[in-house]
Amino acid sequence: DKRSFRHFMLKEIHEQPETAARWLACHFPEGGVDDPLVALPLEVSLLEDLQRIQVLACGTSRHAALVGAYLLEQLAGVPTSVYYASEFRYAPPPLGPNTLTIGVTQSGETADTLAALAMEQQRRAGHSDPAYGARLLGITNRAESSLGRLVPHLIDIQAGVEVGVAATKTFMGQLLAFYGLAIRLAELRGSRSRQELHQLVAELRALPAQLQTLIDRLDLRCAELAHSFADTQDVIYLGRGINYPIALEGALKLKEISYIHAEGYPAGEMKHGPIALLDARVPVVSVAVPGTVFDKVLSNAQEAKARDARLIGVAPEGPDTELFDVLLPVPEVNELISPLLTLIPMQLLSYHIAAHRGLDVDQPRNLAKSVTVE
Ligand code: M6R
Repeated sequence: DKRSFRHFMLKEIHEQPETAARWLACHFPEGGVDDPLVALPLEVSLLEDLQRIQVLACGTSRHAALVGAYLLEQLAGVPTSVYYASEFRYAPPPLGPNTLTIGVTQSGETADTLAALAMEQQRRAGHSDPAYGARLLGITNRAESSLGRLVPHLIDIQAGVEVGVAATKTFMGQLLAFYGLAIRLAELRGSRSRQELHQLVAELRALPAQLQTLIDRLDLRCAELAHSFADTQDVIYLGRGINYPIALEGALKLKEISYIHAEGYPAGEMKHGPIALLDARVPVVSVAVPGTVFDKVLSNAQEAKARDARLIGVAPEGPDTELFDVLLPVPEVNELISPLLTLIPMQLLSYHIAAHRGLDVDQPRNLAKSVTVE
């Protein structure tokens, strides 16, 4: 039931502090300084001596995988590639040893993801060298799904039933699964100091309360802002680094429920083509959070502003972010954690734009909750 919410999607956006709190309580147990930081049901043999990780997914799950790849490379130091499952099926990369293959699908029923995983399992089963054997892990919200039967190892994100076709709280759950996995791997490999990992876990523990404040604050703000999108036909979303996938996710959410054309781009790519699209009719949503690429993203936003684009910033309040015409403020946190917060304005903005247009937010045209055909 929708409780007092107008749509399931809005209810599910509001459930994310709870999704995060449940995950953190389960998988980041409070313990002594020498206890393992992360509790995941994964044997060490699955994770040891990894040379490569490949992640197969579609849609929003693929965006979670892109954030995951950033964490796995930057925190755990394991080269990681993310593939569209539908592409991987027909053009898999050459086999390599000690490779972990992760399938990400909230429904556990996406045909392309299941077929890509099955194909990978099969081609590795034929290899004589055991180092080339399949190490398969699934990340899902439905442990009892086809994915659950296909792979021997599973991370259950436990986000609860998601009714809206647009994935929201399951995206949050998938991201948190990758934080758990990357921290676990970093711990095992000694790629980051224990103190640094402890600090990161402590910052993650603050997430549910931060999410609650952010959702309460931005819900009304996005509802008001949605009016100004009544005649909008195109929106560009920009991000860089760990927030580049969040720009992709913002664009996907807007497309699927509001039917407005939207593109997500790594901000540095604008000048290689898309900047030609910009004028006063094209809003640009820019994710700009302090960290390695803050100045770069701000200067990319400035370039868009010079082409008369209306700039909407997903950024902390402060003198640096005064260039934005509209600010959807997010708290200033460790850059590595920031996607867990910057995703909120993306979800709320697309929800309110679609709801303002009177569209069927929970059942958008031409889409189904799980895509069980190729
Ligand atoms: O069930 P899955 O996570 O495998 O679904 C993958 C995509 O079909 C899904 O994320 C789709 O893009 C959503 N409707 C996005 O909101």
